[in-house]
Order: sequence, then structure tokens, then C-alpha cells
Amino acid sequence: MSALYSVVSGVSFYVPEKIVTNEDLTRVMDTTDTWIQERTGIRERRIADVNTSTSDLGTLAARKVLEKCGKTPRDLDLLVAATLSPDYYFPGIGVQMQNALGASCIPALDVRGQCSGFAWSIATADALLRTGNYRCALVVGAEIHSRVIEFSNRGRNVSVLFGDGAGAMLLERGKENEPPTSHNKVRGVIDSLMGCDGSGAEFLAVKRPGTARGFKEFISPEEAEKKAYLPYMEGQQVFRHAVTRMLEAAQTILKRNGLKAQDIDLVIPHQANIRINETVREKLELAPEKVFNTIERYGNTTAATLPIGMTEAEERGILKPGALVLTLAFGSGFTWGANLIRW
Ligand code: ACO
Repeated sequence: MSALYSVVSGVSFYVPEKIVTNEDLTRVMDTTDTWIQERTGIRERRIADVNTSTSDLGTLAARKVLEKCGKTPRDLDLLVAATLSPDYYFPGIGVQMQNALGASCIPALDVRGQCSGFAWSIATADALLRTGNYRCALVVGAEIHSRVIEFSNRGRNVSVLFGDGAGAMLLERGKENEPPTSHNKVRGVIDSLMGCDGSGAEFLAVKRPGTARGFKEFISPEEAEKKAYLPYMEGQQVFRHAVTRMLEAAQTILKRNGLKAQDIDLVIPHQANIRINETVREKLELAPEKVFNTIERYGNTTAATLPIGMTEAEERGILKPGALVLTLAFGSGFTWGANLIRW
């Protein structure tokens, strides 16, 4: 009998066609291409049109990965979706994608890990596949940030950072007799790590609408008028914690699998800021070509950054079957995560 574990069968992404450059942003707020590039590494991002929802982007990415793997939605028995910008406050995008894809009445979970959402979703799907109750899981990360941020001077510290997009991964039960480990060549998810420190929640949050103490209404007309539903972010706090936690996550998952950073073939990190990723890379003493970044062209697409990075790295021939991959993520919460995968 084969061991219970999961293998990445394929990964794809979908981004809207419309490109918004830094130069375009200078026309609606006081900013410059130089400021954005030097502070973040971003040159451009994609923006969805008004007739496209987050679950639509996720569904488009999902269809691409299913086609790539020669599967149909009816082959799925589990869907795990991550987003912080769902179509509706409830239900989540998981159920909407189940319906849009025409999948059977499978469980469709929404994972609320923000920028760690995709790493947490891989961890969740892998754990459920290891129970033996599921065989084929679709993991999706999708975001439409452009409708939850403000393209104006007031919102410029946040809005220049984010972009819209979606990515999808197919995880299937592996067929080998032994599960993947850091020291054999079996393809599959070796290990995942998830962590959070909720004392950081106040540094990056959308607090309204909500049910927090002292608020009589989900969102009052006055709050709506003041756009209280826009994100609040203390950028330097987020930056500092991101470096610390991504580094810790890498060191912990490496150590417990008997690895050194140099054993990893490719790190696919979350894309919040190129300077965060460069700092983590330097502290891990990794060569630049061992860390794959896409922030320049897509900005921060939150739950979609990892599958976008994996797909582009594959398409450019940088990520090949058999490679030892480490994902690293950090997000609002604060949350963090890592996955160790034999590709
Ligand atoms: N264009 C021009 N100037 C700007 C802009 C802008 N878009 N935004 C802010 N500024 C100004 C500020 O007003 C400030 O001006 P002042 O000195 O006159 O007061 C100046 O630039 C410096 O601002 P800082 O906030 O100190 O700049 P910093 O170097 O910290 O960079 C940044 C800001 C890019 C946001 C950085 O802190 C960062 O990337 N932090 C991490 C944020 C992040 O990763 N968020 C996503 C997390 S993941 C998730 O779950 C969503």
C-alpha cells in the first residue's frame, strides 16, 4: 500500500490584463516611480475590471491548472481557498468557486491567513490528504485589492503596494510506498509550518465592517462615509516583524528536517517588499539566484503571490521536477508560514 502524502501535480495563475504602472499612479496621488521602486521593488501591478470578482479570478486560475493536469472539476474532492478580499463578507470564495467550476458537492474551505493564506492552504490540504479521506485537492489564492484600497494621497502608503491576481495548485495523493522526506527523492509536500502572533493584528487590519466591542452596527453610515473599510497599516512595524518571522520560519523548518539553507534549490517567498525578501535572503546566506521574486510586475497579490512565483519559476526553467523548494510567507495577523516541497 502506498504511503499517505500529497504531491504537487501542477500550478498556474491568472492575472487581469490591465497593467497599472507606477507612472500611472503619479497621476492620481503624490508619489514617484523612484519612491515606489526604491522602497518596494514594484514597477507595475494588475487591476481587475469592475465585472470581475475575486472568485472569478480564482476560478480562472483553477481552470488553467486543471487543464494543465488533464483533470476536470469532477475529479476534485477538496477545495481550499485563501483570500482577504472575498466577493461577499460571507459565504467565502471557496463555495463560489465550487459552484462556478461545476465541482461535486465537495468541502470548500476558506482559509483566513492573509498573506500567509496560500502557505496555510497548502498545509491544510496536505494534512487532509494525509488522512486518506481525500485524493485530489484544489488550492487557490485569489485577491482583488484594487477595490479595497484608495488611489489617493490618503491611501498612498498602502495602495502602491498591492495588485490583483490569483493562483491555483493541484495537490494529489502520492503513489510511492514511502512519503517524501528531506533526504529521499520522493516528490511531494515534506513539511509545513504555520504560526501567528495576534498581538500584531492592530498594525495591519481592516476593522470595519465588523463586530468589534463598542460598535453598534456592522458599519455605520458615518463610518462608510469616511471609508473606514480601507486598510490601516503601520508599514515599518509590518516590515520589521516580516523579516524576523520569515527568517524564524525558515530556520525552524530547515532545522527540524535536518537541512541547511544552502540545501534548498529555490526559495519562493511572499511578495510584500523586495527589501524584506533581500534581508531574509542575506540572513540565510543564500545566493540571489536561490530566491525567486515577482513583485516587480505584480506587486503584492497577498494569497496569490506563492502560486504566481511557482508558475513563473517553472515557466522560466528555474523550478524543475525534483527541486527542493521552500516557501516563506508573512501577513496581517501577524501570521507566517512555510512549506518544504520536493517539486
Ligand atoms: N509615495 C511617496 N511617498 C510616500 C508614499 C508613496 N506611495 N507612501 C508614504 N510616503 C511617504 C511618507 O508619508 C513619509 O513621508 P514623511 O517622511 O514626510 O513623513 C515617507 O514617505 C516615508 O514613509 P515610511 O512609511 O517611513 O517609508 P518606509 O521606508 O517605511 O516604506 C513601506 C514604506 C514601503 C510601506 C514599508 O514600510 C513596507 O513595505 N512595509 C511593509 C508593508 C507590507 O509588507 N505590507 C503588506 C504586508 S502583508 C499582508 O498581509 C497584507
